[in-house]
Amino acid sequence: MNLPDLKEAKIRTNKKSRIIKDDYKVPNEMKNIGKNKKYYIKTYGCQMNVHDSENISAILEDMGYVKTEDLKDADIILLNTCAIRENAHNKMFGFLGRVKHLKETKKDIICGICGCMAQEENVVESIKNKYKWVDIVFGTHNLHKLPNILKESIDKQKQEIDVVSIEGDIYENIPVKRDSKYKAWVNIMLGCDKFCTYCIVPYTRGKQRSRMPIDIINEVKDLVKDNYKEVTLLGQNVNAYGKDLNIDYTMGDLLEDVAKTGIDRIRFVTSHPWDFDDKMIEIIAKYDNIMPYIHLPLQSGSDRILKLMGRRYTKEKYINLFNKIKEYIPNAAITTDIIVAFPGETEDDFKDTLDVVKTCKFDSAFTFIYSPREGTPAARMENTLTEEEKNNRLYELNELVNKYANEANQKYLNKIVPVLLEDISEKEGNLMGYTDTMKLVNVEAPKSYLGKIVNVKITDIKTWSLDGELVEKN
Ligand code: SAH
Ligand code: SF4
Ligand code: F3S
Repeated sequence: MNLPDLKEAKIRTNKKSRIIKDDYKVPNEMKNIGKNKKYYIKTYGCQMNVHDSENISAILEDMGYVKTEDLKDADIILLNTCAIRENAHNKMFGFLGRVKHLKETKKDIICGICGCMAQEENVVESIKNKYKWVDIVFGTHNLHKLPNILKESIDKQKQEIDVVSIEGDIYENIPVKRDSKYKAWVNIMLGCDKFCTYCIVPYTRGKQRSRMPIDIINEVKDLVKDNYKEVTLLGQNVNAYGKDLNIDYTMGDLLEDVAKTGIDRIRFVTSHPWDFDDKMIEIIAKYDNIMPYIHLPLQSGSDRILKLMGRRYTKEKYINLFNKIKEYIPNAAITTDIIVAFPGETEDDFKDTLDVVKTCKFDSAFTFIYSPREGTPAARMENTLTEEEKNNRLYELNELVNKYANEANQKYLNKIVPVLLEDISEKEGNLMGYTDTMKLVNVEAPKSYLGKIVNVKITDIKTWSLDGELVEKN
């Protein structure tokens, strides 16, 4: 048994991350363990977790399991969890209740917990003591060890917990079963060293470590060969890509090399304003296949709060960067993340946040009430706001955000925009996809159009999406 340790998780040394290419193996006796059996994965959290679930799916399929979307049908159920806010915890424990219920009638179901919550001391402590029926727990650093962890639990017929709190290495050659045939997630860096005072990610994902450019570019080239149309380059701070590699190669260089592979669409998340340099802006503007869409988390508009958060930029710097991006990439859609009710946030601080929203008029924003995370510095700061005050601030912010999101959408009416049709829409007879600027569009089109980038004339603006019709090429 290996348990997580927050103190260990915090440590950063100068040790270079290892690139490990041959650590994934399925033991012989596990190769058919899943024969005639089904797996179900529930994924919470960010795109990185979604991509991890694609790795886990491939690993389970290497053991003979096949995927099911029906929980009741599953022989193994995995919860790939997120730890970013308290409500992510609540959701996971709620779901665990359903699994327990199923296990009462179908005893041999295997239940596993992985992802960021598995890296948290208090969570694993409670699974160990109160959820003894959970079979396996593994973390973000060792998901490729799943066959061995499962074997331990089956052999010993008891709960197997294997979570390591380390800076982390880079594992290449872990199999992946992608959810989409057209869009792919590609990790470019793992972990985070920014240690924003409210955030748990540096503790759950280890230190910032960039994959080698060649490994990323080869992965994208293979995707091009397989007819993929879009890649999203993933990292907690993609703009800091390469800084840990000691080579003269930055995110701007990587974007350019990925653009040259000829893939139709390139996206990247998340951009921390701190490391967004001019070269990046220049490259995004230069290449048509780098999408004019930037997610640029603001978090707060108050200099005082930004400082307490450890974000290392000011309101003015953020707005200057925002304006610079808009100047060089005029059609760029910019979205953001905002936290309200950080400890000590006054009415004036909150007004500063509203003020930035009014200045930037974001295309959309994810907004959150601050949620204390055990072990982070902000969790020890005093928060005197009442629940009502917190909710009122969130409400007021959302009203403003939605107003500008709607204004941004209105500009699309009657415009012709490129859309990658990626799936069947909930709207009957329609396919759905996203514009280059990441607007969700429903289009009446036959299924044979799936996977195509088509021109669409926008005919109607809905609250969360756009409706459009195909514009046939002459
Ligand atoms: N690496 C990204 C953010 C990843 S987490 C960045 O630095 O921008 C996604 C979002 O969750 C954050 O941008 C933040 O707005 C929110 N978040 C993170 N920790 C939080 C907390 N403790 N309480 C509320 N929201 C939080
Ligand atoms: Fe969390 Fe900050 Fe790292 Fe983003 S940059 S993952 S908010 S610590
Ligand atoms: Fe959640 Fe972990 Fe992502 S905490 S947001 S799943 S990195």
